[in-house]
Amino acid sequence: MRQVTEGIYWVGVMDWDRRWFDALVPTPDGTSYNAYLVRGSRATALLDTVDGAFEKNLLRKLAGLERLDYVVAHHAEQDHSGALPAVLERFPEARVLCTPRCADFLKDLLPVPQERIRTVADGEEVSLGDRTLRFLHMPWVHWPETMVTYCPEEKILFTCDMFGSHLATPELEVSNERVLEPARRYYAEVMMPFRGQISKHLQRLSSIEVEIICPSHGPVYRDPRMIMEMWRAWVNGAPKNEVLIPYVSMHGSTQVLVERLVDSLAERGIPATPMNMLTNDLGRLAMALIEPMTIVFASPVVVLGLHPMVQQAAYTAAMLKPKARFVSLLASYSWGGKPEEQLKGLLGSWKVEYLQGVMCKGHPRGEDLKASDDLAELIRVKHAAAG
Ligand code: FEO
Repeated sequence: MRQVTEGIYWVGVMDWDRRWFDALVPTPDGTSYNAYLVRGSRATALLDTVDGAFEKNLLRKLAGLERLDYVVAHHAEQDHSGALPAVLERFPEARVLCTPRCADFLKDLLPVPQERIRTVADGEEVSLGDRTLRFLHMPWVHWPETMVTYCPEEKILFTCDMFGSHLATPELEVSNERVLEPARRYYAEVMMPFRGQISKHLQRLSSIEVEIICPSHGPVYRDPRMIMEMWRAWVNGAPKNEVLIPYVSMHGSTQVLVERLVDSLAERGIPATPMNMLTNDLGRLAMALIEPMTIVFASPVVVLGLHPMVQQAAYTAAMLKPKARFVSLLASYSWGGKPEEQLKGLLGSWKVEYLQGVMCKGHPRGEDLKASDDLAELIRVKHAAAG
């Protein structure tokens, strides 16, 4: 056990080797499944469990515990609830506290006896004696059933996946510099599509005095100002006067168009970042998508469509729904294809304006470079109008 503060302990596990999370997002720094034990003068609560693969690790940490009154399930996803059946078996007196929606999910996902679950209302408090647990329903962070817990006596907020980071570390807390990229990656990969809901939750949290944040992944924050300010900027900040260009080039033509657009935008005072999708993973793409106002995909035409890696980038962007307002395309081809139509189809429900792109036959010539310059100028005008 590692002490967070008197009577409150971290009892989670480090997953040093995990490189893919949910078989979906890259986790180059591993991750942790944070569980916290809160020992009050009259009762004891475990806040979340751990991934089922590590249930024995958690039970070893709880071996000396004579009684467990509550297990708080902030979130039904298995990286936090997987060990819940084993904990309930070990502590037959314990009751699960969770939102009504979470109760449904737990019953669906795990062998959790229904009679062991007690649902809690938004704002409801459970007293542990000299410690109180106040439950705040905060749905869609990043599932619909999520909630957080506030301990007013210690001013600690247990935030579930909110403010999390995929970072395995021997320390309970690390420097802001160390956690910055894992926290940014976590937000981008997991939370970005839910900005609207999260914005309301951040507003609600601003009225609560928080001295320590205990998330369910990554380090604890004893000074939560940095992580809260970063989240407010990512969630609520306006898109920046920047362009991201996810691209692949097969024989160099697309590369020429990309470089021309980067230079043309730079002449107009707009920083543009090319991102080769052969050498950057989807986590790096997700992070780069957080702020730019425009995303220009760039691709050779392959079997009449976009290169598969560019399709993947476009699909991922549309799924994450970053705050960008404009999307366009640079494409090079030899004998035909409809990459623009394909890209527009991939955008789905992502609310962006499509700007007429550049279709270049063969190696870029004068008119193709002029078309790239025209796109740069259109982006400048659009950015200026969007303010
Ligand atoms: Fe960390 Fe959404 O589970």
